Amino acid sequence: MKGIILSGGTGTRLYPLTKVTSKQLLPVYNRPMIMYPLDTLLKAGINEILIIVSPEHAEDYGKLLGDGGEFGCRIVYKVQDKPEGLAQAFILGQEFIGNDSVCMILGDNIFEDDFSGVIKNFKSGGQVFAKAVTDPERFGVVKFNDKMQAVKIEEKPKEFLSNFAITGLYIYDNRVAEVAKQVKPSARGELEITELHNWYLTRGELKVDLVKGEWVDAGTFESLFHAGELMRRKATG
Ligand code: DAU
Repeated sequence: MKGIILSGGTGTRLYPLTKVTSKQLLPVYNRPMIMYPLDTLLKAGINEILIIVSPEHAEDYGKLLGDGGEFGCRIVYKVQDKPEGLAQAFILGQEFIGNDSVCMILGDNIFEDDFSGVIKNFKSGGQVFAKAVTDPERFGVVKFNDKMQAVKIEEKPKEFLSNFAITGLYIYDNRVAEVAKQVKPSARGELEITELHNWYLTRGELKVDLVKGEWVDAGTFESLFHAGELMRRKATG
């Protein structure tokens, strides 16, 4: 299993914090944000990692994480010229993924859970993780039937669909890069990750589990502050 950390984008929601640095390098308590998703991949036993970065901040990531030796893994980098959508990561990463499966995590997502069991047992299809939230309109949202099977997934639904957000950790088999190439840009001009989930869902090949521990998408002032507080509590007991 290869790992991708998607760490590009413009971070406009966090302006002016992100005027001179990348969102995913901002401090979350005592470490740059990206080190938490990096930990999640390492804890899951993934040791070949591609970090996708924006052109402006590529050098800073290299300075912080180098070739991964310090963390017992191999890290390589790829520049995403423009933030054209989450699904583009699999096209940019196709060569890196090679013949393997891939686990992608968003550089601003912080998880408490240990995914090593799921990753070791993953065989094929797609696997994503949902969490009940109070503000589902911010996220990709999944509707379950009464057997807790996913029946519908929509990106930032305008009408209430359910309160289960799809979190930013995705496991896909090797077909994902070719599927991503078929995706057309959405109204906001992005290759939406939700299209990939739906490709697997319509074939009955998408598994949606629940995240058990805390999960934070640290992309807003409130959630960034909350993430810092959470990590402080964990670090100081
Ligand atoms: O956090 C989970 C949510 O992440 C999911 O529920 C949604 O389905 C998914 O679309 C995504 O929603 P966001 O609104 O949080 O996406 P955002 O545009 O903020 O991008 C997420 C991260 O990925 C962010 O750290 C920036 C980075 N990014 C984003 C885009 C569009 C890139 O590196 N490149 C890109 O092209």
